[in-house]
Amino acid sequence: MVRGAGVGPAGGVRIRPAVLEDAAAIARVHVDTWRTAYRGIVSAAYLRSLSYGEFEKRRRERLARPETCTFVAEARGQVVGFATAGPNRLADAQYDAELYAIYVRKAFAGRGLGRALVAAVASRLAADGFRSLLLWVLRDNAPSRRFYESLGGIPAGEKSERFGRQDLPHAGYGWPEISTLQGVALPAFPAQNAPPSGPSHSKGAAMVTAKVLEAVNEQINNELVSSYTYLAMSAHCSNGHFHGFAKWLRIQSQEEYAHAMKLLDFLLNRGGAVKLNAIGEPKVKFKTMQEVFESALAQELAVSKRIDALYELAQKEKAFSLMVELQWFLTEQVEEEKSARDIVAKFHLIKNDPVALLEMDRELGSRGPEKG
Ligand code: FEO
Repeated sequence: MVRGAGVGPAGGVRIRPAVLEDAAAIARVHVDTWRTAYRGIVSAAYLRSLSYGEFEKRRRERLARPETCTFVAEARGQVVGFATAGPNRLADAQYDAELYAIYVRKAFAGRGLGRALVAAVASRLAADGFRSLLLWVLRDNAPSRRFYESLGGIPAGEKSERFGRQDLPHAGYGWPEISTLQGVALPAFPAQNAPPSGPSHSKGAAMVTAKVLEAVNEQINNELVSSYTYLAMSAHCSNGHFHGFAKWLRIQSQEEYAHAMKLLDFLLNRGGAVKLNAIGEPKVKFKTMQEVFESALAQELAVSKRIDALYELAQKEKAFSLMVELQWFLTEQVEEEKSARDIVAKFHLIKNDPVALLEMDRELGSRGPEKG
């Protein structure tokens, strides 16, 4: 996992999600590393013609797209590397996500920053529901190919891409299980397991205030409690031979777990210390199936209130990156409340009609896992 950490004598190197204001700095890293890494592979005239302004414009567009994610490596307040990823741009049944670009300035190469960036991106993609990862690298860029091979990338075909007037061959590398990249170790980060010295925006430790840290940790716990409760509900339905309801609730339990991981990764990426609190025993007795889903609705309403409160706190604390992160949760809660409310309404309609109840069990059993 990735967290803010000191590295090397310069110290103060951290990985964090990119914001729109990083576009210019990312563009400079992008152009400069192309000029050094692609020398002798791509025509010198083309490399000279690259424009920071053009790259910045494109980066701004990318950063505004919610389906993509970008992380930067920052050293002493300067962006020295970045990685960006999102859905696979080619229709490829085998790999659903693609690492579009990853670059680290030459002066910072060999310190584990590339690995840390890959781990951060993989972690975010996995939390968003992606399962596998593909990337394309210039076929003649031997150092980069060795890097991807060292991360366990397997050959995934070849294609040609245009650089100015040249068509250059690219090699594909794939990871059928994105989870294998999430746990990439960061041996070059000696301080990776050290807890932050205290809430701070300036000392190279946590990029969140103490209040935000505590509140996000609490929400991680809330999401895990939700996951645990849905699991208990699922088991209860299964014991009652309503396997469709059980399946729906089991998937919901997995989604709540993913919500917790999303927040957990947010804290780690901001250099915050994760504190996992105890989870109490969930309610396991329900009189009817209707009562199960009424409890589910009540739980979602409670979670929505907590997300609202967290957003309010983020505003107060000027935690802008948390506000962006929570926008996803606000939208998700609208969906989740609606699903639970619709199901409860149907229970009210069908009352105790066993045929209708079995039909509803079948309907909910057709739920498949969702992305995000
Ligand atoms: Fe993650 Fe349904 O709250």
